Amino acid sequence: MYLKDKVHCTKCVQTNMGEILVTDGMAKSAILKLKHLGHNVIEKHYTYDELITGVLANYDAVIIRSATKITKSVIESTDIKGNKLGFIGRAGVGVDNIDIISARNAGIIVCNTPQSSTHSVVELTLGHLLSSVRYISRGTHSLKSGEWIKKDLKGTELSGKNLGLIGFGRIAQGVAKVAHALGMNLHCYDPYLNKDIADKHSCTLHNDVNDVFKNCTHISIHCNLTDETHHLVNYERILLMPDIGYDGVNCGRHIVNCARGGILNEADVKYALDNDKLTSVSIDVFEKEPPDNNDLLNHHGFQGTPHIGGSTIEAQMRIGEEICLILIDYFEGKRPHSALN
Ligand code: 3PG
Repeated sequence: MYLKDKVHCTKCVQTNMGEILVTDGMAKSAILKLKHLGHNVIEKHYTYDELITGVLANYDAVIIRSATKITKSVIESTDIKGNKLGFIGRAGVGVDNIDIISARNAGIIVCNTPQSSTHSVVELTLGHLLSSVRYISRGTHSLKSGEWIKKDLKGTELSGKNLGLIGFGRIAQGVAKVAHALGMNLHCYDPYLNKDIADKHSCTLHNDVNDVFKNCTHISIHCNLTDETHHLVNYERILLMPDIGYDGVNCGRHIVNCARGGILNEADVKYALDNDKLTSVSIDVFEKEPPDNNDLLNHHGFQGTPHIGGSTIEAQMRIGEEICLILIDYFEGKRPHSALN
């Protein structure tokens, strides 16, 4: 998918010190380590308007999370300014906020930390799955507003239901392991997956994504946001979902998205909730972040978190450590292990 091995880090700095910009925060231990190695580390968030003035040209390397968008225009503006930027590090997994091709064309290497936050996202996904069927979020809200709505909050078990996983990489496999232990039957769709891996997790692999929807009362999204997956979860597909588990219990339909905003069509999901075609939607990632004037958030079937899948102490420590190792390689002129272009 990415242009691995086709380009080399043409701007790898051959000295051991660099100006490193950290735009969206990073574990303190990693910042200290980089400073200890002799780098000048600047922690500063730039708005998009600032980024397109070419400010990144002043740095050798930039470390970002999802809040910083490095588009073609940002890279081109950097180039115009006599670019010294040679490295973009994504302290996390998703690189949909970086134009990797433009970076390659400008001789900038892009790396991420693909494994460091897996546990954290798995656990958040399971939290949303459990909370959605047991009304933990709604129960909390009702208690805080002085209500005792015990009778309204009769939930269902995950056990005895079919879980559909869209994308079956490391995070989905982690979710599958626990969901299977809870008594869920597993289905997945992943056009890049070897069937043996699905078999190993007792998961039925489907060639058609619609078949996952047709089989599952619960869906959890774990793919990247691409042109192919944009609005993959839409009203028509929600209608394909059964609302009765394999245990015969009428559990309704539930969807969780802790992957990327935009894979799920929020307007369609709201329409499905309004028309009782969907029981719950649990979202960590939104089409627009932070979401503003998004009516979906007011529906009682909605529960959400503000893009915190990778936001645990443990994940951020691991990410920081991995970024340090990657930067050490980069500044020594080596190709880092997670180079994407
Ligand atoms: C990721 O892609 O690593 C997660 O979505 C977390 O993103 P964040 O680093 O912006 O929290």
